[in-house]
Amino acid sequence: MDLLAALAARAPALALHLPAHGRGRGLAPPLAALLRRPPASWDLPELPEIGGPLEAEGAVAASQAATAALLGAQRCWYGVNGASGLLQAALLAVADPGQRVLLPRNLHRSLLHGCLLGQLQPVLFELPFDPATGLWLPAPADHLQQVLAAALKAGPLAAVVLVSPSYQGLSGDLAAQIAVCHRAGLPVLVDGAHGAHSGLAPGLPPSALACGADLVVLSLQKAAGGLAQSAVLLQAGERVEPARLQRSLLWLQTSSPSALLLASCAASLAFLHGDRGRRQLGRALVLAGRLRQRLGAAGLPLLANQDPLRLLLPTAALGINGLAADAWLLQRAVIAELPEPGCLTFCLGMVPPPGLLRRLPRQLLALRCALGSEPLPPFQAPPLPLVAEPELSLALAWRAPAEAVPLEQLQGRIAAEALCPYPPGIPLLIPGERIDGARQAWLLAQRRLWPGQIPDTVKVVAP
Ligand SMILES: Cc1ncc(COP(=O)(O)O)c(C=O)c1O
Repeated sequence: MDLLAALAARAPALALHLPAHGRGRGLAPPLAALLRRPPASWDLPELPEIGGPLEAEGAVAASQAATAALLGAQRCWYGVNGASGLLQAALLAVADPGQRVLLPRNLHRSLLHGCLLGQLQPVLFELPFDPATGLWLPAPADHLQQVLAAALKAGPLAAVVLVSPSYQGLSGDLAAQIAVCHRAGLPVLVDGAHGAHSGLAPGLPPSALACGADLVVLSLQKAAGGLAQSAVLLQAGERVEPARLQRSLLWLQTSSPSALLLASCAASLAFLHGDRGRRQLGRALVLAGRLRQRLGAAGLPLLANQDPLRLLLPTAALGINGLAADAWLLQRAVIAELPEPGCLTFCLGMVPPPGLLRRLPRQLLALRCALGSEPLPPFQAPPLPLVAEPELSLALAWRAPAEAVPLEQLQGRIAAEALCPYPPGIPLLIPGERIDGARQAWLLAQRRLWPGQIPDTVKVVAP
C-alpha cells in the first residue's frame, strides 16, 4: 500500500499499540487544537521568538524551564529523535571515550549505539529472570549491590544506567537501586522511556526524579499524549554538569528540530500534570482495572506489573508463543504492542479504544480456544555471568572484517553484529562478545522462540 494511503486507512478494531494517544483520541488537547489550524502553519524554523532546545532565549527555552519546574527537575531539554536520541546524548555526557558504563541486560539498543558513538565500554549486568514468561525482572537493590561490587573489581565506572519501568511496565524499588549507585559515588541515568506518567496517580510507581535519578529520559508517546519522536531529558542534582549535556545534545541533535514536536513535548507534559490530564489518566486506570478483573474472571489472568495501562498476557501459560498469538490476533484486527515468546503486551494508551472491555476478552478467549494447549516448558535463563564486558571494543568489533557463520558454529567466535529481535529492541548478543558453547545453545533455542527474528547466520569477526 502507498504510504500516504496507509496513513489515511481506517483504524483497526482494537489498536492497542503506541503512540499512547491512540490515533489522536488521547492527544494533549492544546496539541490537537494546534493541529486543527491550517495544515503546516505550525511547521516553523528556529525563529528568534521560538528558539530551540539549546538556545538560552525564546519560547522553547522558556517552555523547557517551565517543564523542568513542573516535573521537579533542574533542567529539561526537549528532543525530537525519540527517547533514543536523548539517551545517547545523556550517555555521551556522563562518560568520556574509553570509560566504563554499567548497563542492564534489558537495555534498549539505542543505549548500545550510544556506547558505540561515545566509544564507551559497556559493562552489562544480569537481571533476575522469570522462566515462566521469559522476562527479565527488575533488580532488587542487593542484587545491584553485588553487580556493582563485581563491576568495580575490574576497574572504575563512570555511570550506571537503569531501565524503569520496563517496556512491560515492570519496575522495582528504583529509589533503593539509585541509592546503591549513589553510595558508590556514581551518577544514575534512568531510561524512563515508558514512565512519563509515573507518580501521577495512586497505584503507579514514583517518578524516577522522585527516586533520586540524576538524569531521566521520558518518551512522550509511550506514556503521555505526545506525538511520536517527542521526548524529554531531565537533569537534577550536582552529579552531571548541564554544560556536558548541552554539548552532547549539540553533537547529536538536528539543527532544524521540528517546532511541532517541540510543542508536543511541552503540551503533553503540561496536560498530563494538570487536572484534566490526571483525570484522563485516572479514567484509563479505572478501565484498565475493570478489564484486568474481567479477564481474570474469564480464566485469563494477566501478569502482575506496575503499570496498569500495560496489559501483560502470559501466553506461555496458555501454551501459545506470543509471536503466534500476535499473528492470530492481527488477522482479527487486534494489534498488540509487544509480542515476545512468553507473553503479549497490550498498551491501553491514555484514552483506551471504545468497546475494549467487551471486545478484548472475547478475542482472547477465542485465541485460547483456537491455539491454546498445555503450558509451554519453562524458558531457559540466558547463560550469562553477573557482569560481562565485550572482549573486543564495540567500535572495533562492529567495523571489523567479518564473516557470516551459521548459528551452530558460533562457539569460540567474537560477534561482529548485534542480535536484536525488534520489538522490544533488546540485544541478545552484542558486538565484541565472545560466544561460548552455552551461549550458542541458548541462541539456537532463541531462534526457535523468535521465528523470523533471528537469522540463521551471524556475522563474526574474521580470524
Ligand atoms: C526501554 C526503552 N528505551 C528506549 C526506547 C527508545 O525509544 P524511542 O523509540 O522513542 O526512541 C524504547 C523503545 O521502545 C524502549 O523500549
